Amino acid sequence: MAAVCMALTSCQGAQAEEEKSSIRIGISLYRGDDTFINNIRSQLEEKAKDYERERGIKVTLDIQDAKGSQNVQNDQVERFISLGCDVVCINPVDRMDASQMIDRAMTAGVPVVFFNRQPVEEDMNRWDKLYYVGVDAKETAVLQGQIVVDLYRRDPGALDLNGDGVVSYVMLEGESSHQDSLIRTEWSVQTLKDGGVPIEKITGGIANWERSQASAMMEQWLLAWPDTIELVVSNNDDMALGAIDALERAGISGVGVVGIDGTIPGMEALEGGKLLGTVSANKEVYAAAVMELAASCALGQELPGAYPLTEGTYYWVLQEMITAFEENQ
Ligand code: GAL
Repeated sequence: MAAVCMALTSCQGAQAEEEKSSIRIGISLYRGDDTFINNIRSQLEEKAKDYERERGIKVTLDIQDAKGSQNVQNDQVERFISLGCDVVCINPVDRMDASQMIDRAMTAGVPVVFFNRQPVEEDMNRWDKLYYVGVDAKETAVLQGQIVVDLYRRDPGALDLNGDGVVSYVMLEGESSHQDSLIRTEWSVQTLKDGGVPIEKITGGIANWERSQASAMMEQWLLAWPDTIELVVSNNDDMALGAIDALERAGISGVGVVGIDGTIPGMEALEGGKLLGTVSANKEVYAAAVMELAASCALGQELPGAYPLTEGTYYWVLQEMITAFEENQ
């Protein structure tokens, strides 16, 4: 009896729970108005429906918006647990401050799948029922840089608008506390250098992933450096769209803009010839990984083999470059 009880303690070993015919998943988003997160949310809802249909297990999703407040998110996680959620999926507000949520989940024995905003390693190492789904930030940045390198090699004049042999660029950065911002900024530029694109940085700034902040910033830069900016490198699509808004307001055309995310509005801008390119993680795979991991934990089943975890904890979603110029060729 004792041996059987011990075997029941792990996610993979909970045979007693195999009979479950319904699961309840609590999901907390750092900000429901973030475009990329919104796209992932829709995919999560789709994947939950697919899961129900394909496996015959009823999936109840409780999705909450933490509206940028860690305190609100802590309360949401607390509520999920007291409502009896089998697993919680957290897109942390403050990735450095996940410990309270982890404490609560560990005490209740409720596994956690974090996504998009990576808690620090020390926190992730506290328990073997903590998982993370996201993208590799360096890979994202190298792919973004590669879009520009490819275009420059094909047609230098498409980027070096004034023909002075140098591409003058500005950089739009995401939140300073986000693990992706610094790495994206550093490695996209490094890739341009490694790829032989002669570049000069005019200026850069933190627009916190937001279209409106990026638009205001770009407007100022266009006034401060008239007829100078040839390329906008943006840490995400929404800020790239903000830069495009400012360029359109100023009546300027021809400036290259590259983003990251492959959001729905980003793809529309790409198809409309406004965005040179973007880097996109497959959002269906992203959401499916979160859902499959969460459901396996909730059902006490073995983790899904289709989503192999690095160090038993991390699932890295593959990404691809999407460019306007290849498609138009
Ligand atoms: C990034 C994404 C941004 C923003 C951020 C939120 O990965 O590129 O657009 O959604 O996550 O954490």
